[in-house]
Amino acid sequence: MTLPGSPYVAYRGADLFIEDCALNALADRFGTPLYVYSQAAMLAALGSYQRALAGRDHLICYAMKANSNLAVLQTFAQAGCGFDIVSCGELKRVLAAGAPASRIVFSGVGKTRAEMREALEAGVLCFNVESEPELELLSQVAVAAGRTARVSLRVNPDVDAGTHPYISTGLKGNKFGVAHERAVATYQRAAALPGLEVVGIDCHIGSQITEATPYLDALDRLLDLVEAVEAQGIRLHHVDVGGGLGITYTDETPPEAGVLVAQLLERIDARGHGHRKVLFEPGRSLVGNAGVLLAEVLYLKPGDEKNFCIVDAAMNDLARPAMYEAWMGIVPCRTRATAALTWDVVGPVCESGDWLGRDRVLAVQPGDRVAVLSAGAYGMSMASNYNTRPRAAEVLVSGSQAWLIRDREDAAALFAGEHLLPG
Ligand code: LLP
Repeated sequence: MTLPGSPYVAYRGADLFIEDCALNALADRFGTPLYVYSQAAMLAALGSYQRALAGRDHLICYAMKANSNLAVLQTFAQAGCGFDIVSCGELKRVLAAGAPASRIVFSGVGKTRAEMREALEAGVLCFNVESEPELELLSQVAVAAGRTARVSLRVNPDVDAGTHPYISTGLKGNKFGVAHERAVATYQRAAALPGLEVVGIDCHIGSQITEATPYLDALDRLLDLVEAVEAQGIRLHHVDVGGGLGITYTDETPPEAGVLVAQLLERIDARGHGHRKVLFEPGRSLVGNAGVLLAEVLYLKPGDEKNFCIVDAAMNDLARPAMYEAWMGIVPCRTRATAALTWDVVGPVCESGDWLGRDRVLAVQPGDRVAVLSAGAYGMSMASNYNTRPRAAEVLVSGSQAWLIRDREDAAALFAGEHLLPG
């Protein structure tokens, strides 16, 4: 059976492997729920961008919100990556993983004064600014700190990425970015404000985009603006085309990263902008297919209308199905010869929205382990403690080696910072 997604997750006989590690053996060793990532899959995904950008002035800024485990960040930092951050929590994490601040861009629509100060002091490469008031505040903070903030304006290109409304970000009705019509005036304001140095332009139109066209349309809109801004005497060094390339969860056929990058570079060259530095902010496409979430089957509960397969991972471990009705593959870690039935795979959380997969054909018994596929992006990074459930452990695999890269959370630690009333 070929699985959708990564070639690094595949059956060998009856057993499901990630690289050279049997997933059942990892579940025995580390327990469940357990996130497991293939380092080779991550580096292969990054390599696809890197090869297409070879010989170009470029920076790939991994959007670390997709998976911010320190060992994942370290893997990318050592491979030469930069990072896209959206909070000072992320800044602290990525610096702790050994990334140089000079390769960090700071995105996000609601940066606080304190975050601006901290990022300035760290010396981030650039702030991706999303509004005029943010620009004014950044200028004040930079002047007070005696520093210069390098800025790029995130422009909302008003392009439909054709993705889920919750993860579509480049339409006029979204909260993100400076409106296209306001962009030149906002650049003029930025150039006039003290403490700021205009360095680039950026956009992000959405996530899980499976076609090249919205990217090319957004790029054209960006390049139109680059020309209009430079006509005002303001120099833009870099063009940041954002992230958003989708992955295969089931039958999606997104362009291969290298192919998309080549198309974008071709358009940049054709329009005479080949001398500019190009930035990318991929998240999902670097880590999504590299990870699985392992869960153990607790109970089988056949019913008149639905059969439920109750597992020990839940919506708090993996929010995507509950939040976006996202379809994620679910397969057994060891196949059985017995007849398969159709199950709703659900977790222990007290909500009907707590499901990982609906109407899945599976031959499983209590005690078996299942793997939720392509769970490397927006899985653990969106996990919560709802129902006072400790978050899962995480393991990174390289070949036949497996490292625990995050301890399983301890329930007592979840309320350690809370206080009983006196008396
Ligand atoms: N840059 C910015 C400014 C972003 O907001 C995002 C993602 C990225 C880059 C990376 O996009 P990617 O390459 O991962 O598509 N939780 C949702 C996805 C939310 C994406 C938010 N922004 C999900 O699970 O589908």
